[in-house]
Amino acid sequence: MKILVTGGAGYIGSHTVLSLLNNDFDVIVYDNLSNANIESIRRVENLTGKKVSFIKGDIQDKATLTKVFSEFVIDAVIHFAALKAVGESSTLPLKYYQNNVHGTLNLLEVMMAFRVYDFIFSSSATVYGGENVVPYEETMPLGEASSPYGASKVMIERALKDLAQANSEFRAVCLRYFNPIGAHESGDIGEDPKGIPNNLLPYVAQVAVGKRESLQVFGNDYSTQDGTCERDYLHVMDLAEGHVSAVNWLKKNSSFTGVEAFNLGTGRAISVLEIINAFEQACQQKIPYHFAPRRYGDLPAFWANAEKANKQLGWKATRNISQMMADTWRWQSNNPQGYPN
Ligand SMILES: NC(=O)c1ccc[n+]([C@@H]2O[C@H](COP(=O)([O-])OP(=O)(O)OC[C@H]3O[C@@H](n4cnc5c(N)ncnc54)[C@H](O)[C@@H]3O)[C@@H](O)[C@H]2O)c1
Repeated sequence: MKILVTGGAGYIGSHTVLSLLNNDFDVIVYDNLSNANIESIRRVENLTGKKVSFIKGDIQDKATLTKVFSEFVIDAVIHFAALKAVGESSTLPLKYYQNNVHGTLNLLEVMMAFRVYDFIFSSSATVYGGENVVPYEETMPLGEASSPYGASKVMIERALKDLAQANSEFRAVCLRYFNPIGAHESGDIGEDPKGIPNNLLPYVAQVAVGKRESLQVFGNDYSTQDGTCERDYLHVMDLAEGHVSAVNWLKKNSSFTGVEAFNLGTGRAISVLEIINAFEQACQQKIPYHFAPRRYGDLPAFWANAEKANKQLGWKATRNISQMMADTWRWQSNNPQGYPN
């Protein structure tokens, strides 16, 4: 089975490509490398001993997408390609809608033209917005997104539903990720953010290797156990395996049409301070941090009800927080500057 993976050179994409190859799928990666390094794919090839077809291309470029679909017989698409910096999306909303929404519509149009109907979409817990009560369940209505980034995910989920309604052959799985962290256990691939990291763990890891001085913890007066925000962190390899489960689920359920959403999380929330403590254990050093005011849009705590993925996909996050920290530290200490340029 041949799978086109857009954004496959990025953080979650590269780990998923590795899992797909280890499960005997053929993979074509389509990535414009705007937030990735081709070295991630070379390392995945080394780790698996298998070849990946790589095409440098943009999902906004229909001509190149069309060329790819005419060259390869593609059975399914896993769509990671997106811009993901929540803060930046508020200052550059059109760039985010253009890249994420317009790019996805382009991709879907080309898929329809080539009669490729199986689609797995990188959605996010952010689609639940602030209105729903935790833990989030898939039956809940989508919320009011607090950023253009979040809105782009809500819009795409809606477009997938409309497409499935109009075309009975189209089948989509929306995987709503909670907070992926960690790295492959080899320490060879991991998260390599360009510039200042937007997410907690890469920032903590860069402080630990001396690349950044100290960590800012945004808010210590939330109504949580220790006053800091709580999130449902899951190991990126568990998340990667969730994609393999989703592809297998589509394959097995040949009569399924429409759109199905699944939460991918552990079902447990961990605070920022707990993360710092756990990381200190892993790297055996103190992480300097200080408290800063709350950040606009941050919710106090959210986590997944991941029962549906467990029951239907047969998927469960199995790696614990110390594995997440140990693997992050292995990646960061082996690659203090990230992938070589
Ligand atoms: N990391 C998270 O915390 C998180 C949480 C929820 C959802 N997601 C979603 O998961 C997906 C992957 O996230 P990630 O953390 O691996 O991010 P990432 O930035 O590492 O990966 C995204 C990849 O897409 C590529 N890309 C971006 N725009 C493109 C375009 N127009 N054409 C072709 N390639 C393009 C980038 O070069 C990069 O390789 C994204 O859709 C993101 O919104 C991520």
